[in-house]
Amino acid sequence: MVELLRIEDDASLCVAEVGNQIPFEIKRVYYLLKPKPGELRGSHAHRETDQILFCIQGTVKMVLDDGKTREEVCLPEAHIGVRLPPMMWHEMHDMTKETVLLVLASKEYAESDYIRDYEEFKNCLF
Ligand code: TYD
Repeated sequence: MVELLRIEDDASLCVAEVGNQIPFEIKRVYYLLKPKPGELRGSHAHRETDQILFCIQGTVKMVLDDGKTREEVCLPEAHIGVRLPPMMWHEMHDMTKETVLLVLASKEYAESDYIRDYEEFKNCLF
């Protein structure tokens, strides 16, 4: 898990700084909003891209699977993110239409970086 600097005054200000909370150079930022309720997203791993995902509004449950251990995590606070290093299979579910996911990524988008087949993911590990 990655904890951002949070400054609480009249509002809640969350800060992600490379070299402090973020352990890689950020090459890409993307966000997902208005997911269809009940929709399953993710279901892939990345070969090289390192990512940190924040749920900055609403709720999400995430499945994290490194090929040995599969666990489910919730992200109930906007300043707590989950790191998705290379070769971490991840799934996002139980989102509502209010859910907003913000992702910081270490590489530019490349479809060749994705492994979208679970058997292929397992084979790449061993
Ligand atoms: P994907 O990463 O599979 O979404 P999720 O993890 O939310 O299920 O991406 C969905 C589509 O968007 C897929 O066709 C690839 C495209 N895409 C880009 O073109 N650039 C990007 O930076 C991202 C994250 C996705």
